[in-house]
Amino acid sequence: MSDHAIAVIPGDGIGIEVIREGQLTLETLAEVTGDLVWEFETFPWGCEYYLDKNEMMPADALKTLESFDAIYFGACGFPSVPDPISQREMILLIRQSFQQYANIRPVRIWPGVPSPLNTEHLTDIDFICVRENSEGEYAGAGGRVHRDTDHEVALQTTVFTRVGVERVIRHAFELTSRLGRNHVTNVTKSNALQYAPVFWDEVFTEIASEYPSVTTDRSLVDACAARMVSHPQTLDVLVASNLFGDILSDVGGALMGSLGVPPSANLNPAGSYPPMFEPVHGSAPDIAGKEIANPMAALWSAAMMVEELGHPEASGLLLDAMADVTASGLLTVDLGGTTSTSEFGTAVRTALKSRAS
Ligand code: NAD
Ligand code: IPM
Ligand code: MN
Repeated sequence: MSDHAIAVIPGDGIGIEVIREGQLTLETLAEVTGDLVWEFETFPWGCEYYLDKNEMMPADALKTLESFDAIYFGACGFPSVPDPISQREMILLIRQSFQQYANIRPVRIWPGVPSPLNTEHLTDIDFICVRENSEGEYAGAGGRVHRDTDHEVALQTTVFTRVGVERVIRHAFELTSRLGRNHVTNVTKSNALQYAPVFWDEVFTEIASEYPSVTTDRSLVDACAARMVSHPQTLDVLVASNLFGDILSDVGGALMGSLGVPPSANLNPAGSYPPMFEPVHGSAPDIAGKEIANPMAALWSAAMMVEELGHPEASGLLLDAMADVTASGLLTVDLGGTTSTSEFGTAVRTALKSRAS
């Protein structure tokens, strides 16, 4: 029996709807495998909480979260609270404070899920975006001066540190080797930006020399965005800075049919802090409360959590059950279907039970 303490933060909007399905499905997974025990504790943090308490999470939230094995997060942000507050004081605060420097965002096409791409290579699309997640463009360095004058200045400074760049690139190579993959694409913009990305490229070359069995290439981020659409089958593992990885992983979501599909794992590979698992998508205020959100990203994120907690077989079982459901044609509205959020979740739980019986 493996006992895992999970902090659940549904957050805002559809975060609440999709995490509910994720949690129910994790309970079913525990039932059918018989060797998992979840100790969930749910925290009602987010924009509603902010409107009441003037903070997204309590001052001791990080201390509270530190004692859990993992965090299962929905989405945060709603039009009622300015985005820079809701994001920086919650999700980015957790990622950065917990040094979750490797953000793992896989891309592959699910059976029965239509991709907007019209190519014979759909089944060969299977790559992983490793996004730097603790510094770079998101470091939070900068400021604004001379406000409301003609001389107003706004600075948002990109911060690349040797420690930060080395560790995420090394993680990309380690992941590649561990998964039996063999190619890493370095994504920067060192043609136009002469300092930080050039430094990143130099570090990439140094680290790559430690992994002679892994082949590499380089894609400037603009060309990489195009390559994801025109030749996605040529990508295996890509490593990119925080902002570039953010943008490219949404392109990945679109390739998979919808932003309702891509999951993410925010990892501190050193194990000093708990990892966090969350859909790539946000709180989707346009569809919140309608029960039509696609829970696939939340369920896939849950599967990544199960794997990270040391249960690859149970994780695979959950992914297989999801594939059973998509292959059967049950799809949510974003993918052209009519299945509701809870109907999709229920179907996955039924598939889990029938696979296990
Ligand atoms: P979004 O991802 O919330 O939505 C973009 C579009 O994709 C919307 O049309 C939405 O309906 C659709 N969509 C997203 N997830 C879906 C799902 N599971 N099923 C079906 N359709 C889905 O991005 P946005 O509209 O740019 O941002 C909304 C809010 O969420 C903002 O406050 C933003 O800052 C925040 N946000 C939070 C996170 C996070 O917490 N990880 C991520 C992205 C955006
Ligand atoms: C994501 C989101 C976040 C990011 C936002 C909400 C801060 O877009 O997880 O991709 O930019 O990292
Ligand atoms: Mn994003």
